[in-house]
Amino acid sequence: SSTKLLIKGGTVVNAHEMEVADVYVEDGIIVAVRPNIKVGDDVTVLDATGKFVMPGGIDPHTHLDMEFMGSGTIDDFFSGQAAALAGGTTMHIDFVIPVNGSLLSGLEAYEKKSKKSCMDYGFHMAITKWDEVVSKEMEIMVNEKGINSFKFFMAYKGSFMINDELLLQAFKKCKSLGALAMVHAENGDAVYEGQRRMIELGITGPEGHALSSPQWLNFRKRLEGEATARAIKLAGFVNTPLYVVHVMSIDAMEEISKARKSGLKVIGEPVVSGLVLNDSWLWDPDFITAAKYVMSPPIRAAGHGKALQAALSMGTLQLVGTDHCTFNSTQKALGIDDFQKIPNGVNGIEERMHLVWDTMVESGQISVTDYVRVTSTECARIFNIYPRKGAIRAGSDADIIILNPNSSFEISAKSHHSRSDTNVYEGWRGKEATAPSLGGPWWL
Ligand code: URP
Ligand code: ZN
Ligand code: ZN
Ligand code: ZN
Repeated sequence: SSTKLLIKGGTVVNAHEMEVADVYVEDGIIVAVRPNIKVGDDVTVLDATGKFVMPGGIDPHTHLDMEFMGSGTIDDFFSGQAAALAGGTTMHIDFVIPVNGSLLSGLEAYEKKSKKSCMDYGFHMAITKWDEVVSKEMEIMVNEKGINSFKFFMAYKGSFMINDELLLQAFKKCKSLGALAMVHAENGDAVYEGQRRMIELGITGPEGHALSSPQWLNFRKRLEGEATARAIKLAGFVNTPLYVVHVMSIDAMEEISKARKSGLKVIGEPVVSGLVLNDSWLWDPDFITAAKYVMSPPIRAAGHGKALQAALSMGTLQLVGTDHCTFNSTQKALGIDDFQKIPNGVNGIEERMHLVWDTMVESGQISVTDYVRVTSTECARIFNIYPRKGAIRAGSDADIIILNPNSSFEISAKSHHSRSDTNVYEGWRGKEATAPSLGGPWWL
């Protein structure tokens, strides 16, 4: 059956321009964008006067249905995507985790998991070990499977981490394939050593995750800066572009800034938690309250978030992800006696659009067009899906959201759509952002 929709009278926003116009959609594709479109009786008409009509959010960084640190994330491809849609995100890119190091087996597993999907998604490939077999499998990913972004881990010693020698080989492989190398940049050896010391000192609670070194308060941010600089130098050495995921600290951001100024192709992705939260929660005496904020790299002391916001507004950092990786309280409780066993990850797929609007647009740090760029268009460009996604224009997918700047609601685990029983943004406020062209609002 053909569905026809006219979104009338809203302010249509793209990454570099906005105008009051109507948007006409047929069968999930945008057919026309211009003022005063006339249609017949068979068309559903939505009045968007006073609202913003924008490309749906694209979250470049999620972990749905992932096995991690002895637990499985609580949101699968259905609940995670329902949460995304409820919050104005209409596409996400998830990380395939290899099975016993095999990319092909990993992809097969994720193709099954993602069968419950209710919106568009893409995949990056995480690389959890490096050898000749993996190198060959990377060719298959790029040439046959349409996956050309690979995440390497400089942290998680003993599981995902690979050393510099292998990282250099992996970057060379990316270069030869024209693929994009992504890094989780933390000095994994030093983080491991720091965590050991905390346990020896008897600091077993979530605050140990932030400290991870007795000498300097919040030392771990320096280990992120160090690894970011090292990854940038290694990628520069083989002349391949680099995408730094979840940039959490001033230290890491400054390395990206320096690299970009010197002409290197480095992309920096802050995540919502790093932009708006601070580490004070990790000292909460209630274990679960604190443990829900444990992710890696750790959320930093107040001040880092503000600096990351400024970097985003100036273009030093380019797009916002979430690293949505949710565990419920019982799963977080696995680390009750040792913070190293707390499954790492926070929610955000549902809250990203709201929080970026409220902290960046409402405060005047970025324009409405920049909002579209950092939440949608830039991601579409980097991962080669623009202008099918990330734009409101004839021929693009009708992944459209309508944002009401005059609305306001409170974010809460009681009303969110994630299956998690907690929300790290409890009590924060957002604006309604609905996705009327995607067959909803069944998800609300
Ligand atoms: O704590 C986090 N970030 N969990 C997800 C895995 C990762 O490193 O992105
Ligand atoms: Zn990571
Ligand atoms: Zn992640
Ligand atoms: Zn709802």
